[in-house]
Amino acid sequence: MSRFPKNFLWGGATAANQCEGAYNVDGRGLANVDVVPVGEERLAIITGQRKMVDFEEGYFYPAKDSIDMYHHYKEDIALFAEMGFKTYRLSIAWTRIFPKGDEVEPNEKGLEFYEKLFKECHKYGIEPLVTITHFDCPMHLIEEYGGWRNRKMLVFYERLCRTLFARYKGLVRYWLTVNEINMILHAPFMGAGLYFEEGENQEQVKYQAAHHELVASAIATKIAHEIDPENKVGCMLAAGQYYPNTSHPRDYWAALQEDRENYFFIDVQARGTYPNYAKKKWERLGIDVKMTDEDLDLLRAYTVDFISFSYYSSRVASGDPEVQEKTEGNIFASLKNPYLESSEWGWQIDPLGLRITLNVIWDRYQKPMFIVENGLGAIDKPDETGHVADDYRIDYLRKHIAAMKDAILEDGVELLGYTTWGCIDLVSAGTGEMKKRYGFIYVDRDNEGRGSLKRFKKKSFDWYKQVIASNGEDLD
Ligand code: BG6
Repeated sequence: MSRFPKNFLWGGATAANQCEGAYNVDGRGLANVDVVPVGEERLAIITGQRKMVDFEEGYFYPAKDSIDMYHHYKEDIALFAEMGFKTYRLSIAWTRIFPKGDEVEPNEKGLEFYEKLFKECHKYGIEPLVTITHFDCPMHLIEEYGGWRNRKMLVFYERLCRTLFARYKGLVRYWLTVNEINMILHAPFMGAGLYFEEGENQEQVKYQAAHHELVASAIATKIAHEIDPENKVGCMLAAGQYYPNTSHPRDYWAALQEDRENYFFIDVQARGTYPNYAKKKWERLGIDVKMTDEDLDLLRAYTVDFISFSYYSSRVASGDPEVQEKTEGNIFASLKNPYLESSEWGWQIDPLGLRITLNVIWDRYQKPMFIVENGLGAIDKPDETGHVADDYRIDYLRKHIAAMKDAILEDGVELLGYTTWGCIDLVSAGTGEMKKRYGFIYVDRDNEGRGSLKRFKKKSFDWYKQVIASNGEDLD
């Protein structure tokens, strides 16, 4: 009987700004993600349309304290270990290492924090999977240099990478260069520290910044391998295949165009060159991305070792301007698919879409893949003991794991591992809410920042433990 690969990396994922808190502790500097409040203006801020560069009166900023993992990491990692995690995906807060971003010397306290955390993981045989930047950019780099629109970011990012690779050699082997790199087009402040000035050509700015991120990612891959040939470097895409709304050819064409907007990034990171369709698009839109021959050489020479992605839902596109019924999704909305159910936040649930996405990415690149985010954001109602019977989450994960299993065992895609998103409840990136929970572990904290921060195991905790213990055989 065919089974999941023996060394399959089961685990869970978090991001620094959504769980660490301690935003001003031990020398940490201010980051873009700190100054994104909950509420109506959040979307305008993360998309760079409304400028917020510091805390303002009258707003609640959930990332300041979050679930305070900075002070709870031992307890949290022990719980991950109890579930049998083989890997734990986390991200580095850039501002713990370089508080302003352009210093020459790193902040020792920040380096120590992650060193202790990685050692704690290894104590339990958990392999850290580290995202170098997950919606995270020092505010100083944004105010002083304009974020990733500025080429100087290459120098600062390279310094960050060199520091991390040198210091954590032997402790970390799996690295992701930029979280959901395609988010730069949809949430540019969060993805690249960009906000826009009046009358600016926003597409031009976004693609220039994207070029800088892509070259930075290639440089990171190069030096990761130089410092430790054991290092494996991956790109990271907010994935989810587009379906045509009908069999009308113009709908298929629309879906292809939408897919290309996302795969554009991975085409460069996995294949090493800018695709012709992108060059043509830039020509049509009058976008002139400044790049050097050396940049192009770097992109060509240092493609990624593996392709990681988040998957929450498939998407739908139509070429008919009359068809407009949209649904919410991971930052960018898509047309509504009448065949699918939706989460409480309107994200549509499509396990087969995960199998389709895995197959498309495999066919396109033929590189090992890693699903580094998948999960259901839902409202949990703990009983008086703090226990949550989250059968809806188990149901979502079970179906997605089954689909992933089909992709591996029936279709033969190569997959390194699977980390569910928000393995412990944390702050939502899209809405800033705490009540949108993904975890196996309930954290007592509410949308307004109240609560004891105590951790409780949900029903899904034991279920996932059994999934891992059986290496994906027992999903009931
Ligand atoms: C991905 C991000 O976009 O989706 C995470 O990488 C994010 O940071 C996750 O939290 C789920 O989105 P949300 O908006 O429900 O937190």
